[in-house]
Amino acid sequence: MERGDFPEHRLEQDGGPGLEVVEGADVEQAIRERQDQPIPAALPVLALKEMVAYPDTLTPLAVGRPRSMRLVNDVLSGERMLALVASRNPEVDDPSPDEPYDVGVAGIVARMLKVPDGTIRILVQGTERVRMGDYVTEEPYLVARVEPMPDVVEPSAELDALTHNVQRTFTEIIEKIPYLPEELQLAVTNVEDPSALSHLIAGALRISTEEKQELLELVDVAKRLRRMSEILARELEVIQLGSKIQSQVQSEIDKGQREYYLREQLKAIQQELGEGDEQQAEINELRERIEQANLPEDARKQADRELGRLERLPPAAAEYGVIRTYLEWLVELPWSVTTDDNLDIAHARDVLDADHYDLERVKDRILEYLAVRKLNPDSPGPILCFVGPPGVGKTSLGRSIAKALGREFERISVGGVRDESEIRGHRRTYIGAMPGTIIRALRDAATRNPVFMIDELDKMGADFRGDPASAMLEVLDPAQNDSFRDHYLDLEFDLSDVMFIATANTLDPVPPALQDRMEVIQLAGYTVDEKLHIAKRYLVPRQIERNGLQRSQISFADAAVKAIIDEYTREAGVRNLEREIGSICRKIARQIAEGQKGKVTISGKRARELLGKRRYFAEQRRRTKDPGVATGLAWTPVGGEVLFVEATAMPGDGKLTTTGQIGDVMRESAQAALSWVRGHLKRVALGVEEDWFTSHDIHIHVPAGAVPKDGPSAGVAMAVALASLVAGRPVSSDVAMTGEVTLTGQVLPIGGVKEKALAAQRAGIKRVILPARNEGDVTEIPEHQREGLEFIYCETIEDALAAAL
Ligand SMILES: Nc1ncnc2c1ncn2[C@@H]1O[C@H](COP(=O)(O)OP(=O)(O)OP(=O)(O)O)[C@@H](O)[C@H]1O
Ligand SMILES: [Mg+2]
Repeated sequence: MERGDFPEHRLEQDGGPGLEVVEGADVEQAIRERQDQPIPAALPVLALKEMVAYPDTLTPLAVGRPRSMRLVNDVLSGERMLALVASRNPEVDDPSPDEPYDVGVAGIVARMLKVPDGTIRILVQGTERVRMGDYVTEEPYLVARVEPMPDVVEPSAELDALTHNVQRTFTEIIEKIPYLPEELQLAVTNVEDPSALSHLIAGALRISTEEKQELLELVDVAKRLRRMSEILARELEVIQLGSKIQSQVQSEIDKGQREYYLREQLKAIQQELGEGDEQQAEINELRERIEQANLPEDARKQADRELGRLERLPPAAAEYGVIRTYLEWLVELPWSVTTDDNLDIAHARDVLDADHYDLERVKDRILEYLAVRKLNPDSPGPILCFVGPPGVGKTSLGRSIAKALGREFERISVGGVRDESEIRGHRRTYIGAMPGTIIRALRDAATRNPVFMIDELDKMGADFRGDPASAMLEVLDPAQNDSFRDHYLDLEFDLSDVMFIATANTLDPVPPALQDRMEVIQLAGYTVDEKLHIAKRYLVPRQIERNGLQRSQISFADAAVKAIIDEYTREAGVRNLEREIGSICRKIARQIAEGQKGKVTISGKRARELLGKRRYFAEQRRRTKDPGVATGLAWTPVGGEVLFVEATAMPGDGKLTTTGQIGDVMRESAQAALSWVRGHLKRVALGVEEDWFTSHDIHIHVPAGAVPKDGPSAGVAMAVALASLVAGRPVSSDVAMTGEVTLTGQVLPIGGVKEKALAAQRAGIKRVILPARNEGDVTEIPEHQREGLEFIYCETIEDALAAAL
């Protein structure tokens, strides 16, 4: 079997390099002669691989097999005629009579070329279609009887239309596909015979051998053209589809090329400006940092996406900076950095004791927490909330806890925060957007499990910009805070390993939902004695060191510290005490720097000299020397306070005036106290005229007038002050009192007993008048904090009067 796939034009150019034209002198002549004669009854059969030859066309063939060469040689020396028949099975090299199809083409060998490799090329002019009959011989090559199969043509309009259609479609195809030579177009338009046309086209198409054979076997020309139309239409569609795909691919490539080109240009410009390298270096650095940051999957995706955008932007673009800042935030966050907890309880105890005097209850709670952690490392930690007056050690306790655990410590203040976005950040679309305070603090902590103190929870506000408390709620809720979402980052960050500690001076303004999530630990304040201890053990050594002094240069006598506590500070905590100690240290440091030699011992006297005018007095003695003044005890967010209730009378008709910025509730207690005293005039003050109250106006004032005060607990003090005024007997200077009164003279319990007791102690009070029902609160105050105080419990105003007057 032979192939016909070498280029046709090579043959027509009469050989090329290495081709020797052996035969073909006057081919036209030979063919003309042959065509006029009927074909022989039997012809040698050349089986074709993967090709079909047609009448009216030239078929080029490469002949290499010895059997076929022999055949060609015999044909050339004889009638020059053979039959070309497609093989059913192109795999078989030396076919038996079963292989060739039943229909083939009779043809004349028009030309032969010898190729230097020993094979030959022939060009066969197809003359007519033949049906293969019996095979006469099989050796040395196949020879078969053949029978002509002429076309069936019936001229009709349909045939014309089909012809035209085939012509047009094929022309269209030629224009679109490169493998068909252009001469073919000319040939197709010139051929008028429908049958010849169909053969020409069928020979040129690259369709399957089966289809080619099918076309050959269709004797009816109209049918053949119809079938051809179908095939051509399909081919055209395939070509069009292909070219569509092609053009899409092309436009993709064009786009890519355009971008590439522009980027190259940009690079060149940037290089000129000296920017490109910097940008690339920056991007490389960011990429490396992203790699190292060990981001969770979501964050990693986001980082890669943003980095991709960054690469495509010129550094001068405004967005460039925005994205770079964002990426820097991403990589700086401690996504997977943790510190290992030190759960050694003895160690923790040591650290806490080293930093803080007493505060046993708080320390115990912290050690319990550690113990639980140790037994169950996965238990969500409690959220502690330290509540107490300023300077009692809330913040510094937080620091100690971090130190004991071996964690980082971060502190944020939410005091004055009104805007949710301060906590949660602004979306990146805002100019100058930043993460909120939580994420910022975590970046500073550089670990994702710091001790995180949220200060001034009670001073957080709310307004139209959203409620920061709801954001805090999410932060502090162990059920939600493993997926805290900051607006700026727009990614979830796991806060569940953070140990939160909140602080507040009072719990009242803290939303109940927030209170519920926390374990509240109260710190009430210190007694004078405790302050003395704290000063000696912690504050003095710290201030000596901070001011660059040595212990060999300065020491404080107890009397000095006591003087500072009594005369220069009035506070529940020790912040001002420490400040005054610091101020003394500075003054001594200066004297030493100026050349003073020897150790300085700060006595009470020396302290007073250095600190100047005394700032606070034990006022009650002076204040209460006249009738009508009672010492009350009040609770405030900064601790217990001593306050004075002053009552005076002037000629009038029984009006009551109250001043001193007192609120409605306190005004009503004043009214109740007055009514009770009026109603019990006889018992309060013997010998006073019946009409005393109708001939006098009463004025009650509660200094300091500029500070707002409210609450019912000054009732007892008001009643006592009024009684003292009417009776003309001063109130004992060593007694202070607190309690609500009713019109029937009952004394009702009040809150803040511990703070009030401490305030009384600070003020040098000896006796405290309390509602009987507050006795339980007193027993809870540690012994040393009520040292020197006598508590008098009363059920009625009369009991209180008996004790006070
Ligand atoms: N029990 C204590 N032992 C040793 N030092 C103490 C003690 N209590 C407080 N201090 C010291 O008092 C100073 C003030 O304490 P801190 O700043 O913790 O107060 P705070 O309770 O956080 O007050 P604020 O409510 O104003 O924030 C710190 O220097 C702290 O070390
Ligand atoms: Mg604090």
